[in-house]
Amino acid sequence: YDLSRHNTFGLQLHCALFYHITHEHQLLTLASSGFFRQNKYLLLGGGSNMLFVNDFYDGAILHLDLRGRHIRPSQNSMATLTAAAGENWHQTVLYALENNLGGIENLSLIPGNCGTAPVQNIGAYGVELSQVLESVSGIHLLTGEKITLSNQECHFGYRESIFKHQLKDRFAITSITLKLTTKNHQLHTHYGTITDELQKMNVTNPTIHHISQAVIAIRQSKLPDPAILGNCGSFFKNPIISAEKANQLKSHYPDLPTYPTPEGTKIPAGWLIEKAGWKGRRIGNVGMHEKQALVLVNYGNATGKELWNHAQTIMADIQHKFGITLQPEVNIIH
Ligand code: EPU
Repeated sequence: YDLSRHNTFGLQLHCALFYHITHEHQLLTLASSGFFRQNKYLLLGGGSNMLFVNDFYDGAILHLDLRGRHIRPSQNSMATLTAAAGENWHQTVLYALENNLGGIENLSLIPGNCGTAPVQNIGAYGVELSQVLESVSGIHLLTGEKITLSNQECHFGYRESIFKHQLKDRFAITSITLKLTTKNHQLHTHYGTITDELQKMNVTNPTIHHISQAVIAIRQSKLPDPAILGNCGSFFKNPIISAEKANQLKSHYPDLPTYPTPEGTKIPAGWLIEKAGWKGRRIGNVGMHEKQALVLVNYGNATGKELWNHAQTIMADIQHKFGITLQPEVNIIH
């Protein structure tokens, strides 16, 4: 089966078996037949956060393509929006905005589907999904049980959740429920570039719609469109290091941006990669994007191996130059 349309890196890929999942009962049937105990498989959403290292996946790919969305009013000027896993994330943000629901406007234009959004706890411009997520529903693939996890049970962190750990490859997310505001929206404009963009737009009294427009403009100016240049957004996570180590680095590099977090000091990986000279430098078919050094791009005919080799070269170089270990944000599939 040809997977070319199912990965935003633009790789030519095939797999042994492909299931197009449009109803929960397909998963329940597979689970009760013991399929997930006996076979190599991979759950796939929009394919916007995966790097297939090999051009053939010798197992089954389950494309989770369940559809449907609804809004239910709730108390205190809130409403819940439930979206099935296969619904496109950005279309769902637009749907929320059309219904004047606030909370996810900063997450406009993030590629991928609703069902994969909780896996890496998508975040951008000062907002993370975990701030608005009420619950995640799905099926435990080994027991066939239908389960709903509360926000707390998802163990969210920066680009982290239970779906990357205890429930990795064991749980198929079928829908997510968000808790959004219907009025008195709380705007998140503290991320520097948003304020700048709103100013450029001559907006002094921003609404959720303006914020979405500002985010879209920023993303379009920096991040390559996967339809034109294959990529998976940020390839690495921003590393979190000790305050002590951050101070040491800052004495060598006074222009190093640092962001305090409860877990330690967050450093932009894009800055490290740029400083190390990799930004916009093309090697064969691959390179880090000229406008955002955190984005690994396929200039045309790259293979998964070339992309992964390049990523590893950069990880080794950042380790060598700064003593910081970068970790991929994108899932690496062997
Ligand atoms: N920077 C550079 N050079 C670069 C890129 C960034 O020096 O080439 C430095 C600058 O100091 C800049 C700072 O990094 O001010 C932050 O850059 P940016 O606002 O572009 O954000 P980021 O930290 O590089 C993160 C997320 C993005 C998200 C943006 C905006 C991660 C791994 N990435 O990137 O998420 O859109 O913030 O909030 O946390 C994604 O996960 O795929 C993604 C695109």
